[in-house]
Amino acid sequence: MEIKSVGIIGAGQMGVGIAQVAAQSGYDVVLFDQSSDAVKKAFGRIEKSLARLVEKEAITADAAHDAQARLTPAASVSELSQCDLVIEAATESEDVKKAIFKSVCEHLKPEALLASNTSSISITRLAAATDRPGKFIGLHFMNPVPIMKLVEIIRGIATEPETYELAVNFARSLGKTTANSEDFPAFIVNRILIPMINEAIYTLYEGVGTVEAIDTGMRLGTNHPMGPLELADFIGLDTVLAVMNVLYEGLSDSKYRPCPLLVKYVEAGWVGRKVGRGFYDYRGEKPVPTR
Ligand code: NAI
Repeated sequence: MEIKSVGIIGAGQMGVGIAQVAAQSGYDVVLFDQSSDAVKKAFGRIEKSLARLVEKEAITADAAHDAQARLTPAASVSELSQCDLVIEAATESEDVKKAIFKSVCEHLKPEALLASNTSSISITRLAAATDRPGKFIGLHFMNPVPIMKLVEIIRGIATEPETYELAVNFARSLGKTTANSEDFPAFIVNRILIPMINEAIYTLYEGVGTVEAIDTGMRLGTNHPMGPLELADFIGLDTVLAVMNVLYEGLSDSKYRPCPLLVKYVEAGWVGRKVGRGFYDYRGEKPVPTR
């Protein structure tokens, strides 16, 4: 079995990045989203991103052109039927993901591999909702995908050794380094990162510091490239909340309770950069704290 074509479901921040990197690495990529507008925007974003790389002389104009030519938009999941690997990168919700796997499995070749880019949800449980738990694996890319070097690899209880080997080789072929995580809530990176972000939101909620003081404190005080509230906006507050809920429910420990202020921002639809507003308002020239 050789992976040549990759299907991607979900053309949001992550799906777009995975599509771009896979196309740049020589894979044929088919990109699907339930919103045709998202797919259209995704192609525009990839075109811009590749053009920037050409400007910076990181890649040649020919390479950018070839990468773009390898990308195909799909209007339905049935158009992923010839893919050797399908990566799901849709909204962080177990119900959404299970429904996607149900609809895509019936179209796939029996030998096709399935992966989820979930940040937190049990790979074993998602795999059990498919017709191929042995060919299912967690491939957790980091945001932004073209820049971040890591892919966390998560095997479910039924993941076959061959699936694991193919997935590791695939991630490496994209120029990424892999780290293995056991299949427990939020895996390694988000088990550590997201509770820290939640704590930063508690710090704001309790009035210990302002948005600016918290981000400046962590940027300059701990040498993090971004403050935790900036980073939360970058990830998406809906995703941060979904991961906290998976930790809270999956580990039954009150230390993982999501901060009520995080819940309030998500309820308001202020979920961060992707909508123009979160802990900062991005609609003007410069980000301005919203509290
Ligand atoms: P996003 O909100 O930017 O994009 C999600 C996309 O999924 C949207 O375009 C939406 O239309 C689409 N979608 C929703 N339901 C669908 C369905 N039934 N069929 C097809 N498409 C559907 O979210 P983002 O940030 O790209 O996250 C996607 C996944 O990647 C989540 O599982 C998230 O946990 C994970 N992830 C996110 C990271 C981040 O920093 N944002 C980092 C690593 C993983």
